[in-house]
Amino acid sequence: MNHIIIKMSKMKIGIIGAGFVGLSFAVVLAQKDFHVILIDKDVRKIKKIKENEPPFFEPKLSSYLSKSLKMIESSSNFELLKKCDIIFITVGTPIGKNGMIDLNNVIQVGKEIGKKVLQSNSKPVIVLKSTVIPGTSQKILKVIENSWNKVGKGFSLVTNLEFLREGKAIEDTKNPHILVIGGKDGIANKKVVNFYQNVYKQKIPIFLTNHETAELIKYANNSFLATKISFINQMANICENIPSASVDDIAKAIGIDPRIGKRFLNAGPGYGGSCLPKDLQALISYSEKLGELPSLLKAVQKTNDYQVSKIFNLVKKNLNGLNKKKISILGLSFKENSDDIRESVSIKLIKKLIHEKLNVMVHDPMAIQNTMKIFGDKILYSNVIDEVISNSDCLIIMTPWNEYKKLNSTNFQKMKNKLIIDTRRLFKNRKIEGKYFAVGMNLMKE
Ligand code: UDX
Repeated sequence: MNHIIIKMSKMKIGIIGAGFVGLSFAVVLAQKDFHVILIDKDVRKIKKIKENEPPFFEPKLSSYLSKSLKMIESSSNFELLKKCDIIFITVGTPIGKNGMIDLNNVIQVGKEIGKKVLQSNSKPVIVLKSTVIPGTSQKILKVIENSWNKVGKGFSLVTNLEFLREGKAIEDTKNPHILVIGGKDGIANKKVVNFYQNVYKQKIPIFLTNHETAELIKYANNSFLATKISFINQMANICENIPSASVDDIAKAIGIDPRIGKRFLNAGPGYGGSCLPKDLQALISYSEKLGELPSLLKAVQKTNDYQVSKIFNLVKKNLNGLNKKKISILGLSFKENSDDIRESVSIKLIKKLIHEKLNVMVHDPMAIQNTMKIFGDKILYSNVIDEVISNSDCLIIMTPWNEYKKLNSTNFQKMKNKLIIDTRRLFKNRKIEGKYFAVGMNLMKE
């Protein structure tokens, strides 16, 4: 047994794509003494990583990176992957213009692997970790074979989806709740299973299946999570019309039913981020292409889109005219502990507000830089919460950062007009002067 562990620890692991998934995986493996070759086509990203600077914010990443640098060789040169035992593909699969998943990144990587990595004497297992629609693994297998020009010899491809959450990327990489492994080559599957058993000393459920089912599991997982959120958001909207009804109590009570489960039942402004909206859209388009009507998935999406219009309409309804009113927004990232604003509901709301010529001032502990890239000088920014709130006609809390939870009536004293819209119910148990609206509660009408 010891012998196997020593041998496995010396494995050389390739990772292509230094995003949340790839970089988190790289630092966790490096901490466990694996030699990691990390490849990304973005030379600026590679330069930052080499200089011990994470290219994006993620809790714990910085300290993990500095401790693991000596075990990570980062580069844009695919040829470095030649000696790897296993090569993980962790590049992004965004949504293309037609609403379909854009596979260009994975296809390009497949071509590079075929051309520059595979040699007759190396037999790496290629593991596709990127989220892809069913059939993609087989397609990539063909792309690699074609560009290598040696069909069927020397390498195998395994599908292995990633479920980590932003803001918890290191934690989730260290302790995944499941390992889904799909493929038709039993030896390659076994090699990946052995690798993971060596990485994780704790017991992680391993689910072995075929490529297509593995690919679809990821979409089913994220679509179900999105469904839970839209469901509770719709309950929240119903609660708002019933005096004293509380969506949080409803979530707590139904969450105790083991058939439902308590997580992902936090009502709010709607889900955002780089995965849930994208994966739902990809599954909708895929389903339509198959000729299957994705009616439930579309309703989930529509319910999510409705949340932002609802917040905007609340502002409109409760301000006496919109022109030049000051709106303060607390929270820009799609979730706390992240600087990611991709598909953030906050950004969608700001777009609506500035379209109506409202003056918007924003705060976020991490995401101001990224937001500046979108809005430039169209809105105002501050690192000081009180400055953002001061002289405001309406305050909207969008992201549940810890620092916002500490705010109280004293902080709201300097508002010109005390209209507070709390999309995360942070102050639901506090006495707030003025008009206080909490998503999922009927407080304002009392
Ligand atoms: C998600 C999946 O959780 C993860 O498994 C997958 O690998 C990637 O996509 P992530 O995008 O990091 O992870 O964020 P997540 O924690 O799932 O939150 C997504 C969005 O839903 C956020 O905007 C969050 O605020 C919102 N959300 C989440 C709710 O509104 N209510 C909830 O109860 C949970």
